[in-house]
Amino acid sequence: MGIQLFKAKYEVDECLAEIRECLEVGWTGMGFKTVKFEEAWKEYTGLPFAHYLNSSTIGLYMAVDIMKEQYGWEDDDEIITTPITFVSSNHAILKSHMKPVFADVDETMCMTAESVKERITDKTRAVMYVGLGGNLGHYEEIVKICEENDLKLILDAAHMAGTRLNGEIPGKEAEVVVYSFQAVKNLPTADSGMICFKRGEFDEIVRKKCWLGINKDTYSRSSDSGNYKWRYDVEYVGDKGHGNSVMAAIGLVQLKYLDRDNAYRRQLVNWYRERLSKYPDKIKLVRIEEGCESACHLFQICVDKRDELMMALNAAEIYPGVHYANNINYRMYDYAKGTCPYADYVSEHTLSLPMNLYLTYDDVQKICDVVEKFINK
Ligand SMILES: Cc1ncc(COP(=O)(O)O)c(C=O)c1O
Repeated sequence: MGIQLFKAKYEVDECLAEIRECLEVGWTGMGFKTVKFEEAWKEYTGLPFAHYLNSSTIGLYMAVDIMKEQYGWEDDDEIITTPITFVSSNHAILKSHMKPVFADVDETMCMTAESVKERITDKTRAVMYVGLGGNLGHYEEIVKICEENDLKLILDAAHMAGTRLNGEIPGKEAEVVVYSFQAVKNLPTADSGMICFKRGEFDEIVRKKCWLGINKDTYSRSSDSGNYKWRYDVEYVGDKGHGNSVMAAIGLVQLKYLDRDNAYRRQLVNWYRERLSKYPDKIKLVRIEEGCESACHLFQICVDKRDELMMALNAAEIYPGVHYANNINYRMYDYAKGTCPYADYVSEHTLSLPMNLYLTYDDVQKICDVVEKFINK
């Protein structure tokens, strides 16, 4: 099998017991475990609302869609965003007919405060901030910029399950935080996500919009006898975006072990850093800012001849990845070509070394041996 970039590690017996309950009760859909998982997530994060979804992508779409509608944003209004992300973050903006305006990143792989400030116009409505790899980058400065300029903050926390800032889970400052529990994330399920709005009204809306717009409560509320429970009103042309109890069952179990798992991820990163920080001229390690206790979803480095190093690693049966190619290179975003030089650099030089809970100290040494040999040749 070699050494994989990602490989989810599950508490198999506990997960199966939790799923078994769903099967025995005969309830695998929305409700039951999804409600429990929402409660557990709110308790874990301290965020006031949480709605469980079938992906974080639908959460990002909903975040932009609901805010646009509720705040009266116009088509072509702007959201400042990063070019170094999975396309979900930016597609969410386009899907709502708004314009992604790309700010540049730096060695943290996250957007810089200066670049965000430079991009603000009278059409800017929000900032889409991605805590890449579980790191916070310049999050605190971006929060301040949003406050000072009356911009809404959307936090794409797909990589950030368990990340802390000065000991606390960040996100209370944001209008909305969206997490991913996709197959290879720090809290893996298979596919699912969580949307956490700051405002209760928006949480109510997202619950309807992610169930085709159905407002189940209208009739059950208005009918004392419950005779009309099957009748419901449909308030929106919504999507089928809510999560299900089988995924939530896995999530509930994995959440118990998230901090333990993330601590081991940080240990892996420390082992990598011990070895690879000896070559500052040849290997740029991702910069983690003071106060950030990273979930360490990724461990990224930048090197010259990245593609050749990847081939050398592959030859040793080690399989790294790239997070991410500059989104500006994709056709729908190429209007922004040339606006983010550091993102261009990252796109051509970054690679993500294996980060999974099956890795041992010896695996990390083996990986570093190949990297060292390559850069010193
Ligand atoms: C930064 C970022 N945002 C959003 C997503 C989308 O997550 P999901 O697969 O849960 O829709 C991902 C998934 O890889 C991601 O890396």
